[in-house]
Amino acid sequence: MLALLYVSRSTMAPETAAAAVADIIAVSRDRNPARGLTGALLFTGQHFAQVLEGPVAAVDQLMATVAADPRHDDLVVVDRRPIAQRRFGRWSMAYYGPSQFVTRHVTRLLDDRVWPSRARSAGWLNDLMWEFAEGPGADYRELPVSSAA
Ligand SMILES: Cc1cc2nc3c(=O)[nH]c(=O)nc-3n(C[C@H](O)[C@H](O)[C@H](O)COP(=O)(O)O)c2cc1C
Repeated sequence: MLALLYVSRSTMAPETAAAAVADIIAVSRDRNPARGLTGALLFTGQHFAQVLEGPVAAVDQLMATVAADPRHDDLVVVDRRPIAQRRFGRWSMAYYGPSQFVTRHVTRLLDDRVWPSRARSAGWLNDLMWEFAEGPGADYRELPVSSAA
């Protein structure tokens, strides 16, 4: 078996992306099981990352189709390795989309009413917000408040 990870850039207009990604997930969940394929898809709104795992020929064949799909470009395969065991064996295509990134952290905090797990969730959210402000790729640097301090 083979596991492959690629990243690519979405070519879709923001207003059509949600419906298009829903189509991609539906097709994947419909077709991947019969080919012995499992994996996960992440969509940030601008980029995709996808893990595909399964028999070598099935992975390569799907990759040829996916690489030619005009809904994304700049596709780079960042990892391709033989595997003995699947990591995403339960998923014909697990999906993680843009709204989930933040929603998950905020709802976790809202649902968590008990210390110390709430303290831990608050720590994660604080780390996430620091990452936005200061982490690699941060682009919200327009309003430094403390630079004069
Ligand atoms: C980011 C991305 C990931 C995709 N992942 C899959 C997938 O896992 N399985 C699949 O069957 N199609 C996937 N597709 C859709 C295929 O590119 C293709 O449209 C679909 O398989 C239908 O193929 P066909 O036109 O040859 O019938 C993906 C498309 C994109 C843009």
